[in-house]
Amino acid sequence: MIRFDAQENAFYLDNGRITYCFGVVKEGYLECRYFGRHIRRCQGSARPSYFDRGFCSNPDPQDKRFSLDTLPQEYPGMNQGDFRSPAYVIQTDDGRRVTRFLYQGYEIFQGKPPLPGLPATYVEHSQEAQTLVVHLADAHTRAQIHLYYTIFQDYDAICRHVEVVNDGSHPLWLERLMAMSMDLPRGTYDLLTLSGSHLMEKVVSRRPLTADTVVLDSCRGASSPQQTPCVILTDPQTNEHQGQVWGVNFVYSGDFQGVVQTSQYGDVRVQMGLNPLTFGWNLEPGQRFVSPECVLVYSSAGLNGMSHTFHRLYTQRLCRGPWRDRVRPILLNSWEAFTFSIDEGKCISLAKQAAELGMELFVLDDGWFKNRVDDRRALGDWVADPVKFPHGLGSLAQGVRDAGVDFGIWFEPEMVSYDSDLYRSHPDWVIRSPFYDPVLSRSQLVLDLSNPAVCDYLVQAVSAVLEETQASYVKWDMNRHITDLGSAWLSTGQQRELSHRYMLGLYQVLDQLNQRFPQVLFEGCSSGGGRFDAGMLHYMPQTWASDNTDAVCRLQIQAGTSLLFPPVTMGCHVSAVPNHQTGRVTSLQTRFAAALGGNLGYEMDIRTLTPEEQEEVKGQIHTYKALRETVQHGTFYRLLDPQQHNDGGWNIVSQDGNTVVCCQYRILADPLRRTTVVHLQGLDPEATYRRQSDGVCFGGDELMYAGLSDQPVRQDFVHVLSVFEKVAE
Ligand code: DGJ
Repeated sequence: MIRFDAQENAFYLDNGRITYCFGVVKEGYLECRYFGRHIRRCQGSARPSYFDRGFCSNPDPQDKRFSLDTLPQEYPGMNQGDFRSPAYVIQTDDGRRVTRFLYQGYEIFQGKPPLPGLPATYVEHSQEAQTLVVHLADAHTRAQIHLYYTIFQDYDAICRHVEVVNDGSHPLWLERLMAMSMDLPRGTYDLLTLSGSHLMEKVVSRRPLTADTVVLDSCRGASSPQQTPCVILTDPQTNEHQGQVWGVNFVYSGDFQGVVQTSQYGDVRVQMGLNPLTFGWNLEPGQRFVSPECVLVYSSAGLNGMSHTFHRLYTQRLCRGPWRDRVRPILLNSWEAFTFSIDEGKCISLAKQAAELGMELFVLDDGWFKNRVDDRRALGDWVADPVKFPHGLGSLAQGVRDAGVDFGIWFEPEMVSYDSDLYRSHPDWVIRSPFYDPVLSRSQLVLDLSNPAVCDYLVQAVSAVLEETQASYVKWDMNRHITDLGSAWLSTGQQRELSHRYMLGLYQVLDQLNQRFPQVLFEGCSSGGGRFDAGMLHYMPQTWASDNTDAVCRLQIQAGTSLLFPPVTMGCHVSAVPNHQTGRVTSLQTRFAAALGGNLGYEMDIRTLTPEEQEEVKGQIHTYKALRETVQHGTFYRLLDPQQHNDGGWNIVSQDGNTVVCCQYRILADPLRRTTVVHLQGLDPEATYRRQSDGVCFGGDELMYAGLSDQPVRQDFVHVLSVFEKVAE
């Protein structure tokens, strides 16, 4: 899959479906040549023309046509005549930022090495992938940059990261270090991003790329609900089903920067990496720094094609542990109905009712630990409140299991309240500057996870509860962003390292807990989908997609999320109406239809359901269980553009191809009652499919090419759920 062509001085990464090619020019510079659909060779038929342009700097004085400012590059530096966005900036110990990293050589090997301390895609057998490492070196500092590229046999993705090694005798200061940089040729592209906010995460935004630089970033200490660390470029005519797509996604959960820069000559630079605003790293002689990983996907089959690659790669080779391949439990969560006023009696009665309705897991959310009567106190003290739980958590968990469902529990381990025993005994464990009172958010402070003692405490505190309760599920929350970046643990010279060290500490804590409790299903959360990213999925195979449980908003949030992440990674709950966030009233049926597009749960006081509603919920759970394998492990297709808000639809095809679940929805009623037709995807055109609801049989070709219509009614917020089974020939 990877070869070096000595004649062309070029590297080819190729799995028969995609080709990634770059060359070595002037014996030192890496020229980006092609990333796209498989081609046999890349001899330069589309190479840009080079000539002596105004303001061009010439590293080779004999060749005025050659300038780094016009060369499409793989990993450009600064101070060498490329005035576009640099991939790295390294300050030397004389205070300057002038370096010359030039090509030295390469290695190719089978498999894919892990990234120490960082989340990353992986292989189970070395034959699944090949890795190329390209070595660059700077003669003056004797530092090296190693560029890593992995291509997979079965996924149309290239994974990139970089390492910097200081082999010299003076310290270096890393100011900027992107995980990847790539220059796409001049053309007309659209840029798609997933932007949002708390309660409205991952909203798709699409615009034509014209000129200038677009920067996407987070400096919040989390990937954040505002920006997702991904850049998606498409041809202007690309839609869900056809057209070219280049998707870049960062496997990281902290501060990031994505850059899309249209150069003065129209080519497009794409970069993704750690956010230089909050990143800096002191690299002493002999030390190595490893950047997080970036996944680059190419699809010539539209946005669904890109999503399929991310979905398959992430569920099969990013998520880990026994839950990776299992179906996920239907849960009842205590939060929206009870917030902090939860106690043993309520838990047991809810668990009994949940079991009767067919649910499988009861999750005790916030409010269970000592003194936690509101959000102003107690974070950090992970021991049960003796008033609410007089018999302790072990007995509660057993009571829940005796009622017929498993037991799960909520934590927000990265945080601490002023009013807590933890803060009183360790005020120096908080992220802050000694000179100012730290800014509070949700009345809480952030623990300094760069300090190993803090990480040890978290592992021990969470483990004690998991051991006592034998919990099978943990919801891991994070409800504020980080300010006052300062650490009592780190030295003066290391303060700029805090943001990244925080993430390394968090990843280490999660890794230890994963190893200690492999049977526990972890679900990530950050006030909803505030940290729904590929980094977290390595430790927690699902994430609570949004605090917004309104069925109408959820359709949009989940459709945006599905660009990168499949239904099995999304927590989706049916909640009470009027909805807590929007006040909107939708039917139980509509709320179920929205939650069906992910891992189903309920988040309401189910004891107050009428007998009719109870029957309806029982029916929903029965339906979901029958479809669960397909919904959670099938292939997901968006049928309509998620930006087109009133009508939507998706279908999922089971792994064996025999079951198809299709959901069509319409938000506001159309007075003309016009029909919306969706064209199903991924079916066998030759096969026949029987619709479960009425037994009518359709050809796969008809469902895909003629499509499936809805039945417009005079009502808002309606959906049609259709299940098809392939009929044996
Ligand atoms: C924010 C989460 O998103 C909610 O689901 C809930 O767990 C609260 N935190 C609890 O404080």
